[in-house]
Amino acid sequence: MTDAELLDVAAEAAERSYSPYSHFRVGAAVVTDAGEVVTGANIENAAFGASICAEANAITNAIGGGARAIAVVAVVCLDGELCTPCGNCRQIMREFQVERIVLSSPDGSPVAVTVEDLLPMSFGPEALRE
Ligand code: THU
Repeated sequence: MTDAELLDVAAEAAERSYSPYSHFRVGAAVVTDAGEVVTGANIENAAFGASICAEANAITNAIGGGARAIAVVAVVCLDGELCTPCGNCRQIMREFQVERIVLSSPDGSPVAVTVEDLLPMSFGPEALRE
């Protein structure tokens, strides 16, 4: 699947967003190390802090489904120009060896960045391995 196609899948996932508070619909599509595509959307909560971002939803769906690494994460927001992952989601990506993060630029074309771009000098799982 091309980056543009993966962004289309993320945009479809964003249609399933539960965002009655922000009205900011975000979707994510991840490709696992096994090549499976898994999606997620942001899921908000009346207790705002309990809300779940689209990226976290997609990654935890994939890992909960048995994957142990994620190759690509694509993110689309339907109600804003450029959606860049929040700090917490960057750290979640850091855990699962994400190689590429594909964002949708304001004109809709894919922009690819790395976890290192988004989270330099990060703390990761190897620090806790012998
Ligand atoms: N949000 C995401 O799902 N992903 C992002 O990359 C940025 C923000 C969600 C969280 C919340 O439901 C809404 O967008 C507004 O912050």
